[in-house]
Amino acid sequence: MGSLKKRIGIVVGTRPEAIKMAPVYLALKDKFDVDFIATGQHKEMFYQGLSPFGIKPTVDLKIMEQSQSLESVLSKTVTGLSEMFKDKKYDMVLVHGDTTTTLGGALASFYNKIPCAHVEAGLRTGDLDYPYPEEANRVLADDICTILYAPTPWSWDNLKHEGLADREHLVTGNTVIDALTIMQKRLGINTDEKENLVVVTTHRRENWGSPLEHICAAIKDLALEFKDFKFVFPVHLNPVVRRVVYSVLDGIPNLELTDPMEYDDFLKLLARAKVALSDSGGIQEEGPHFGVPVILLRHVTERPEGIPRKIVFLAGPDSEKIKEYFHFVVENTWWEYVSNQPNPYGDGRASERIAAHLSHYFGISETIPSAFEEVF
Ligand code: UD1
Ligand code: UDP
Repeated sequence: MGSLKKRIGIVVGTRPEAIKMAPVYLALKDKFDVDFIATGQHKEMFYQGLSPFGIKPTVDLKIMEQSQSLESVLSKTVTGLSEMFKDKKYDMVLVHGDTTTTLGGALASFYNKIPCAHVEAGLRTGDLDYPYPEEANRVLADDICTILYAPTPWSWDNLKHEGLADREHLVTGNTVIDALTIMQKRLGINTDEKENLVVVTTHRRENWGSPLEHICAAIKDLALEFKDFKFVFPVHLNPVVRRVVYSVLDGIPNLELTDPMEYDDFLKLLARAKVALSDSGGIQEEGPHFGVPVILLRHVTERPEGIPRKIVFLAGPDSEKIKEYFHFVVENTWWEYVSNQPNPYGDGRASERIAAHLSHYFGISETIPSAFEEVF
């Protein structure tokens, strides 16, 4: 006899989706019949994000190719998922964020007439070129999804302004703070033991070419100037990124280039750092939780909440600005300030809210979950 539980398919493909949807899977798995579906957009990095949670995907479509194109990832995702959806008849599909997997998952659900919930909906820069192609992925996915889980009040406002005010929704907080909280408890991470450590990551497409060269030049100058700081840079597996990073930054004694790390190891590193230099969305949200100021290697962000609070600094790929903010942060021991600020991105209860909302949506529970509210 089949399960009487509602069937949910969680579609994920890249490292950040694995990390940010692992807590959602854990919150849903007892109440629902849940499949964790990997498209395989990322091969190694996906599992580096997921394995620390002790989760294995139900299926992996294994679509990744070296130096893959956007078109190939999208078409393989839509085709592969559609075949599965015809067979499995999910009551709801969940997608996350703004990757090609996100758009593919939302489109495959739409084509197969399965309601789709978008986790991390409503983040916007208002510029389709930044981040590229993620801004478009997010706008398009939001438009065709049935439920919109906006992480913050600001992201829900964006959706309302786009005419989606009547759409089923909840402001949840970002699930990355749930992921981080789970790991912090498990690993006993202490954020008070700071070292002269700087964590660096970059990967964004809009930074490919000369912006990435400017970023690396600034990091080189900083490493040479701040010799008492150790810089650790886990380099993304994208060959375009690795080529530039290794050509500019290899061989500097206090700068270590490593392969991408398992999520738990990366968090242990980040928690000890005094500064992060990154163009990553996830690290922008995680840094403040660990009292780490984030110098953002982007000139615009769809997560602006940290900027007026001075826990995130928008430097762009501008080498002078990157160095200026770095000086400010170090000279003012700014990690001490950030350690005392509330995190505007989430409170560690987003997955619990999503599970409660879906239970209410499907008539399993009468309780309507309360929304995440930012603390100022
Ligand atoms: C993708 C997402 C981006 C997200 C990022 C997280 C899109 C368009 N981009 O960018 O939004 O922020 O993931 O990291 O969806 N590679 C490997 N092994 C891996 C992962 C990647 O070798 O485990 C290499 C492959 O050569 C692959 C290339 O990196 O072709 C690019 O991967 P892809 O997912 O297309 O783009 P990302 O830049 O990783
Ligand atoms: N991360 C990781 N190992 C690393 C670098 C980053 O596990 O070596 C984690 C990081 O903590 C964050 C996520 O990966 O949760 C960010 O992923 P990425 O930068 O690839 O994507 P984005 O957040 O920009 O979409």
